[in-house]
Amino acid sequence: MKEYYTLSEVADLLGKSKETLRRWDNNGKLTAVREPMSNYRVYKKEQLKIFDELDFLFENDTPKKGTEPSKAFSVLELFAGAGGLAIGLEKAGLKCIALNEIDHWAAETLRVNRPSWNVIEADIRNISFADLAGRVDVVTGGFPCQAFSYAGKKLGLNDARGTLFYEFARVVNETQPLICVGENVRGLLNHDGGRTLEGMKSILDEIGYRVVEPKILKAIFHNVPQKRERLILIGIRKDIEVDFHFPKPNKKIYTLKDALKKGELFPTDVPVSAGSGYPKRKKEILEKVPPGGYWRDLPLDLQKEYMQKSFYLGGGKTGMARRMSWDEPSLTLTCSPAQKQTERCHPDETRPFTVREYARIQTFPDEWKFAGSVSQQYKQIGNAVPVNLAKDLGISIVAFLNQVYAKYQLEQKNLDIHQMSLPI
Ligand SMILES: C[S@@+](CC[C@H](N)C(=O)[O-])C[C@H]1O[C@@H](n2cnc3c(N)ncnc32)[C@H](O)[C@@H]1O
Repeated sequence: MKEYYTLSEVADLLGKSKETLRRWDNNGKLTAVREPMSNYRVYKKEQLKIFDELDFLFENDTPKKGTEPSKAFSVLELFAGAGGLAIGLEKAGLKCIALNEIDHWAAETLRVNRPSWNVIEADIRNISFADLAGRVDVVTGGFPCQAFSYAGKKLGLNDARGTLFYEFARVVNETQPLICVGENVRGLLNHDGGRTLEGMKSILDEIGYRVVEPKILKAIFHNVPQKRERLILIGIRKDIEVDFHFPKPNKKIYTLKDALKKGELFPTDVPVSAGSGYPKRKKEILEKVPPGGYWRDLPLDLQKEYMQKSFYLGGGKTGMARRMSWDEPSLTLTCSPAQKQTERCHPDETRPFTVREYARIQTFPDEWKFAGSVSQQYKQIGNAVPVNLAKDLGISIVAFLNQVYAKYQLEQKNLDIHQMSLPI
C-alpha cells in the first residue's frame, strides 16, 4: 500500500504543474512533508483526501466484474491508423471485423501484423458500409477534427457534409451499432469555442444515438507511461436502455523506466531499433540539458542561440530542448520525434527516442511491426491511441455489451463479412 506520493506523482494525479504544487506548499494549501526513509519532500496519501478527483486512491481494488465477453462482439474500426485502438480492443476480447484506413503504410502495418483482419485501404468517403447494417456491435473511430460551418441552429447529419466526422456519423447511421465510440484530442473540447463538439453531439442525437457526456481519459491512469489524454465521445442507440461506465483510473502510475526497461509493463529491456538523430549543433546543445530539464537549464548564451526568436517571446515553452526523465511518465509523443516545440530527448543519450522506444511508450507490444520509412513509422505510432488505454476502454465496452445482450436476449451476429460489397 502506497502511503507517500512524490511531488511529480501528485502533479500528474491532479494534472497540475510542479510549480503550482510548490506554490501550494508555500501558501499552505497543500504542504509537503519529509518521507521518513529518504527524507525527500513528499505528500502523505491522507493529505490528498481533499481532492474529489482523487477519491479512487481510497477505494478498494475490487476485481472488474463482467468483463469477459459473453459473445464474440464485433467492431468496425474507422480511421484505424497503425492499430493502437484496435489492438487494445482485441486485448479486451472484442473482434474487429473490418478496419478502414486511407494511409497505405498504416494499412500495411495492420495487414502485416494481422493477416486475418479485413483491412479496407480506402478513403472513407468512397466506401459504403451498408452491407454491415445490423452486423456490428460497435463502431469506433478517431476522426480528424474539423470545424463545421455553423448556422447557429442544432446541427443535423447533412450540415456536417465534407467533414470526416460526417463520414463517422454516416457509417454509424448506415450500420446501426449498439454503441459508437469516437476518439479525439482534448482540444476538441474547445475547438471553435466548443461548437464543434456540440455539433457532433447534436448530430449523433439526430441519427438516433444518446450521447454520454464526453470524457477525457488520462493515459497515465490506464497503465500507460505517458501523459497523453484522449477525449472519448460515446453514443448509445436510443432503443438500448443500458448505461455505459467509463473505465476507472488505476492507482499505479508508470514511468519512462517502466516503458524502456524490463519490469511490470514489459518482460525485457526495449529492443534495439532504427530511429532518427539530431543535427550536430543541436546535439552539442542538448548534451547540456539534464534529465527532466529543458532550455532554461542551459547557459544564457546557449539559451539564446537555441531558442532564437522564441527566447524573447512569452510563455514557458517547457517543451523546448526538453529531456525526459526516467522517473516520470513521458510527455505526449507527437507524429515526429524531434520537433523544436515538443522535444522529447532520451534521458541519458542525446538523441530522440527510437521507433521501438516510441512504440513502448504507447504500450504497443514489441512484436507489433510498423511498415514504411522510419518517419512513417513514427507518424503511425504518434497518431495512435495507447494500447493499454484502449484495452481499458475496451473492457468498459465489453461490460456494456454483456449487459445489453443479457437484457435484450440478443443473438450472436453472423460475422461472415466476405459478402460485403463496399464502394459507394
Ligand atoms: C488519429 S489517427 C487514428 C489512430 C488509430 N485509432 C490508432 O489508435 O492507431 C487518424 C487516422 O485517420 C486516417 N484518415 C484520415 N483521413 C481519412 C480518410 N478520408 N479515410 C480513411 N482514413 C483516413 C489517417 O490516415 C490516420 O491514420
